[in-house]
Amino acid sequence: KTLSASGFHAPERGRIDVLDDVLFDISDDGIITAVHRHGDPNYRTIREARDLAGQIVTLPKGTYILPGFVDLHVHAPQYPQLGAALDQPLETWLTQYTFPLEARYQDLAFAKRAYSLLVEDLLAGGTTTALYFATIHQEATRALADICLEKGQRALIGKIAMDNPDECPEDYRDASPEAALEGTRDFIDYLRAHPDNADGRVLPVVTPRFIPSCTDATLEGLGEIVRRCGCHVQTHCSESDWAHAYALKRYGKTDTEMLDHFGLLTRKTVLAHANFLTDDDMDLVKAREAAVAHCPLSNAYFANAVFPLKAALDKGMHVGLGTDISGGPSASMLENARSAVLVSRMLDSGTDPKLPAGERSANTGSQIDFRDAFYIATTGGGIALDLPIGRLEPGFKFDAVAIDTRADKGTIRLWDEFDTGEAILQKIVYTASRANVSSVWIGGAKLR
Ligand code: GUN
Ligand code: FE
Repeated sequence: KTLSASGFHAPERGRIDVLDDVLFDISDDGIITAVHRHGDPNYRTIREARDLAGQIVTLPKGTYILPGFVDLHVHAPQYPQLGAALDQPLETWLTQYTFPLEARYQDLAFAKRAYSLLVEDLLAGGTTTALYFATIHQEATRALADICLEKGQRALIGKIAMDNPDECPEDYRDASPEAALEGTRDFIDYLRAHPDNADGRVLPVVTPRFIPSCTDATLEGLGEIVRRCGCHVQTHCSESDWAHAYALKRYGKTDTEMLDHFGLLTRKTVLAHANFLTDDDMDLVKAREAAVAHCPLSNAYFANAVFPLKAALDKGMHVGLGTDISGGPSASMLENARSAVLVSRMLDSGTDPKLPAGERSANTGSQIDFRDAFYIATTGGGIALDLPIGRLEPGFKFDAVAIDTRADKGTIRLWDEFDTGEAILQKIVYTASRANVSSVWIGGAKLR
């Protein structure tokens, strides 16, 4: 198959590759095998040959192709409370709202209904890969995997491990370390033996909720599972000053150091939030080549902090973008991408107009632009997960979205006399919405 289209991707940080009327060759198993550009010597010959064979699909003018978005942090069960209870402190929000909602996923029918809606909505918004926290429930977590497989979304899913009776409610926790570990192992086995998952479209993730919610026995056992299965790992790390201080009090060490101690800080680990990492923590995360899921909206509401994204990227750390549904009130990766720019501007400049201009910020130089925001929403997520996704290059999966800049109900307006090249991507990042997402492909298959 060959797709003729214009579009954009970020082959590396700081560089947008403008794909001007190119041909994407896509193999039967959904991998990009070639990208032919106008300037290529054999472009015309290839185009004519493909045309004759009737192999070319052409995107309409005004529609641009981008890599599908990689949402690096989603709590699938929290979708019913998206946009609710945002004015509560994190600890209250967890115990009063979130744990009771997640406990409802004991009810499989409810779980299926909520998870189906979520996966549909994320696909409609252009999220082609999601890294999901599920709940502690085996049945409901399997149902989420089945729904992703059925609808075709690339997903990484973890059954949550949380068994610390001091921090987790009686009706919503693993009954023991053994139960937490067995549930984790069962889910890994389920996905590995799943008849519809031969290509590994849905991958299991070892998921200690965060250090406060787990006993040492569980953290040790999960580390052992990771050593044996080589799975991805996800957890919350140094999200708020409360969460950061918790590990210091329990161990005299930071949660980053303790995750490393338990064997949970690997090349395939994603740390959600990570706002309060120390400089040494940053060095350790970088040394292990683990990644951070930057959740700009959620951090504003619950962590009261801004992750120093620019510093992390400059340092060469792996960083992707997460919605943190429902800590963040938007399921849209575009909305979160522009929020990443916004919060970086506030970190850079400071926000208190009563302070003299030169004293408003201790963080000047923290500002990112739309290129970095787009990079973390696509390329950065692929690197974080160590998967061939997030770029439109040979060897990568054809996971992509089409943005129709002329969609009636959309929110972009392009002006032919002003907007060309990269400036079009800039407008997409700042102004596009779900109504502009006209098509979605995953693994070469067009889903919508
Ligand atoms: N820390 C532990 N659990 C959670 C959660 O569900 N959301 C957020 N934002 N932080 C957490
Ligand atoms: Fe979270």
